[in-house]
Amino acid sequence: MWNEGTYSPRDNFFNINPVMDHFNYKKGKLFAEEVSIEEIANKFGTPSYIYSKATLERHAKAYIDSFQSMKGLICFSVKALSNISILKILKKAGCGFDIVSGGELHRVILAGADPKKIIFSGVGKSRAEMAAGINHNILSFNIESEPELDRLKSVAREMNKIAPVAIRFNPNVDAGAHEFTKTGRKSDKFGVSIETAKNLVKECNDSDNLNLVGLTCHIGSQIMELESFEDAASQALDLLIELDKLNINIDFIDMGGGLGVNYIGEETIQPFELIQSYEKIFKGRDEILILEPGRSISANAGIMLAKVEYKKDDFLITDAAMNDLLRPALYDAHHDIWPVEKNDNLASNVNVVGPICETGDFLAKDINIAASENDLLAVRTVGAYGSVMSSNYNSRPRAAEVLVDRKNFYLIRKREDHSILTSLEEGLDDQI
Ligand SMILES: Cc1ncc(COP(=O)(O)O)c(C=O)c1O
Repeated sequence: MWNEGTYSPRDNFFNINPVMDHFNYKKGKLFAEEVSIEEIANKFGTPSYIYSKATLERHAKAYIDSFQSMKGLICFSVKALSNISILKILKKAGCGFDIVSGGELHRVILAGADPKKIIFSGVGKSRAEMAAGINHNILSFNIESEPELDRLKSVAREMNKIAPVAIRFNPNVDAGAHEFTKTGRKSDKFGVSIETAKNLVKECNDSDNLNLVGLTCHIGSQIMELESFEDAASQALDLLIELDKLNINIDFIDMGGGLGVNYIGEETIQPFELIQSYEKIFKGRDEILILEPGRSISANAGIMLAKVEYKKDDFLITDAAMNDLLRPALYDAHHDIWPVEKNDNLASNVNVVGPICETGDFLAKDINIAASENDLLAVRTVGAYGSVMSSNYNSRPRAAEVLVDRKNFYLIRKREDHSILTSLEEGLDDQI
């Protein structure tokens, strides 16, 4: 049993530690909460994603319980992990949602989300997506450009409605682990300059179909230093003070997500530290503080289970591949890999690769592990940007997803079969 009783938001909750993420060896066998991983493999096969409900709840709570002087709202960033069962758990834990597409809106509505806790982000919202958000009465559209605001105004006018708006400003802060996940620099496609933000605020104020409800920014992902968040927050405060001078009141300030997690044993910032420093910067303000964490809530709550098909020289060839977990190929990301059953065999340095016809198809490079044919492996810290980025490349069916809740486990996404791969294709038969 894990020790829930001693938990406090000040705990270092990201550390890879059995008490923290609920993936844990017992007598040499890996467990998720109280369920043996081998038992899950026997029932649902491989490759499979396995999530720990207790870990998800713990991480959501670490954020929600950290607010002291400000009223807070945590909107889980659905792009990190979008399975409806997971969204239901996070909703029950008190989270709202940050979405970036009509598809994600569909998911959160199915999960029973409170529309007044849904934030619609993203640079390319279509008219149909805007109309859907307005129809569902969501909390806010986070607007990223002048033409986007014009489009929202026109959609709202056609519907004879008032659309809620938060302006996403770009603070020109360089933060994030990888070039592809930095979003807060002037050269990135996200948000608008402070000057443009001020103009858009006025445009909202002058429109009968727009209601300015917030300011927002999001500077990147896997961020490991507090200073970048503080820099962006100080700029948000300056903007708020400008709005005060114009007698414009807004409901919330949304500082986005981005908190880094522990992939290779690195020190991470805790949600409590982040929220504490935001509260210091926004001291005395009445706005609600919204955060949009994704990775820091779900990454450590998931592992991917794979089976070794072959051992060839220094390669372990598994039945999981880059179509199941893209992060190593896309970002050169490192994920620890643990044997599901510890053994006394001699460990050696190996590359763990998949069956896809690309040299970039690897799960880990040069890791020290003792494993041979038919052994089960657990790829760690894949609960964020794991299953959501999977594809059918090489006509490989997507993996199953399993949720563990103490001593029970449930299939929350069936393994795809071959018929799904071709189910949307039209057969022209003899016409071509
Ligand atoms: C607007 C926005 N909010 C929140 C997030 C979640 O970021 P993270 O998973 O790093 O917390 C992202 C991710 O890119 C994002 O683009």
